[in-house]
Amino acid sequence: MAIRNIREIGEEVLTKKCREVTEMTPRIRELIEDMLETMYEANGVGLAAPQVGVLKRIVVIDTTGEDPHILINPRIVESSGEQTGQEGCLSVPGKTGQVTRPNYVKAVALDVNMKEYELEGTELLARAICHELDHLDGHLYVEKVEGPLQDAAREEEE
Ligand code: NI
Repeated sequence: MAIRNIREIGEEVLTKKCREVTEMTPRIRELIEDMLETMYEANGVGLAAPQVGVLKRIVVIDTTGEDPHILINPRIVESSGEQTGQEGCLSVPGKTGQVTRPNYVKAVALDVNMKEYELEGTELLARAICHELDHLDGHLYVEKVEGPLQDAAREEEE
């Protein structure tokens, strides 16, 4: 496993639409392990493949530090409610901004064995799912921010 370099806002790779994963390979398994290690090392709660420069539809999320979720080709199939709160991103270091997201989402994704499963989340997990999936279509939270970006006091970044 290895820590990968996190790409930052302004880099073109963060603005691209990612491609679906069609088969699991040793290289993709290694990418996923590296993404988890990179996310934990950076104290993030989520990381999307384009953030390490790979245009594939893969995200990792762990909002508790002990419950890693790996989502391949994820899509949101249900959402409801609303939450407004501070959001950050490892690709926008030192900043935070207010974003409104659904309070509940259900996603369908493939796991590392390319088996389909559902992931439901509320509050922070719902926010993280929405935030990370946006990365796969080349979108950053700063496009959705309500009001100015602020300097982060230092909370968890997504
Ligand atoms: Ni992000």
